[in-house]
Amino acid sequence: MVPTRIPPPPSLTLSVFETPPPPPSIHRETRGKVWDLVAAILLPFSSVIFFVLIFLVVLSLRRRIYRAKHKEGDQDPTKNGDIFSIWNFNGRIAYEDIIIATEDFDIKYCIGTGGYGSVYKTQLPNGKVVALKKLHQREAEEPAFDKSFRNEVKVLTEIKHRNIVKLYGFCLHRRCMFLIYEYMSRGSLSCVLRTDDEVVELDWLKRVNIIKSMSHALSYLHHDCTPPILHRDISSNNILLNSELEAFVADFGNARLLDPNSSNCTILAGTHGYIAPELAYTMAVTEKCDVYSFGVVALEVLMGRHPRELLMVSASSSSSSSCLQNVLLSDILDVRLSPPRTRNLTQNIVVAATLAFACVHAKPKYRPTMKFVSQQFVARQKPLWKPFPTISLLELINSELEMKNGIESQPKVSSHPVKYHGSSSNEILDV
Ligand SMILES: Nc1ncnc2c1ncn2[C@@H]1O[C@H](COP(=O)(O)OP(=O)(O)O)[C@@H](O)[C@H]1O
Ligand SMILES: [Mg+2]
Repeated sequence: MVPTRIPPPPSLTLSVFETPPPPPSIHRETRGKVWDLVAAILLPFSSVIFFVLIFLVVLSLRRRIYRAKHKEGDQDPTKNGDIFSIWNFNGRIAYEDIIIATEDFDIKYCIGTGGYGSVYKTQLPNGKVVALKKLHQREAEEPAFDKSFRNEVKVLTEIKHRNIVKLYGFCLHRRCMFLIYEYMSRGSLSCVLRTDDEVVELDWLKRVNIIKSMSHALSYLHHDCTPPILHRDISSNNILLNSELEAFVADFGNARLLDPNSSNCTILAGTHGYIAPELAYTMAVTEKCDVYSFGVVALEVLMGRHPRELLMVSASSSSSSSCLQNVLLSDILDVRLSPPRTRNLTQNIVVAATLAFACVHAKPKYRPTMKFVSQQFVARQKPLWKPFPTISLLELINSELEMKNGIESQPKVSSHPVKYHGSSSNEILDV
């Protein structure tokens, strides 16, 4: 079959040839106009897009820088001013719960007033009874008090020990600052020691256990925390007792992280009658300052009152030997209790008194470490070398010499690296 050529449709052929091609000058002019039009539309449009993009890039960069800067602050709950996002108590209590429970911090719930705030007892909606320490409004404006409050949160949120009061939550808002603790129904040790009705419940076994618990808590702070923590305000006011009359170290407002790279010089802090004598002529704090305060509280527990005169006598080396030779241990014990009878109790009291005297040594380098003190209580007790009622204070003080292992030639600053539980800074929390 021969292929036939199909001609194009006439109309189409016509239309192509009927429109004459534009002259070259007109063609160029039209192209130029189109380009002008495109440029007129696209240029402003693309420059707007360009500037928007630049703006977005700058914005995201700024956000990144801000986040990087505040990363540390975000991790630190104490820097958070948001009242609702700082609870640490199962996340189930809110600011309103506290206000309702305390009827907006009504005075009827107040159980104690301290240097810069009041302490309230209250029951939360979940039935838990807690103690709330609220910073007074006027004190909240004082940077030193504000710092002390934040300091307590910083320290207490990082540590955990069975003889250290638990911090359940806190609110560090500018307008209202308070801390929520485990409630200690028997209040402070000093209060119980001052109340004749209550003090008889504090029998010899409970007293020895209070001294042991304090030593374990302080040993933990000095030797198990990194860096070591100095409490700096150990006194019978800051030892709280629960319903079983067990002791808990409280009030970390003056606590400080020990920085081995610094001189650890500081302003004087603490409670009169418990402050180590060397702090009168040096501003350098070491853990031996806490050791001294511990010794004072331990003697106070055994004697039932502050050992003021005894500290003065033992500090003056000229008169001490003859005075202490004539004073028996059994003579200084709290007369409101009948004398200890069992062998176990007398041995424990002798160990506690011996360590307490070692701790209040006028020279810090002769005081034992809290680790040593705490270990002595755990170690097997040796039988007494003579009957308990005949042991004099001088014999106790001389028997300290046998405890050389616990006495270091120089007060220990720290053998730990200076990292503080995830914090990158060697921060010193000073008041
Ligand atoms: N968790 C608690 N349970 C019971 N009472 C407390 C508690 N915390 C403090 N208190 C009482 O409030 C007093 C002052 O508290 P504290 O923490 O020592 O504050 P300050 O820094 O004002 O001395 C204590 O001596 C004690 O009587
Ligand atoms: Mg206190």
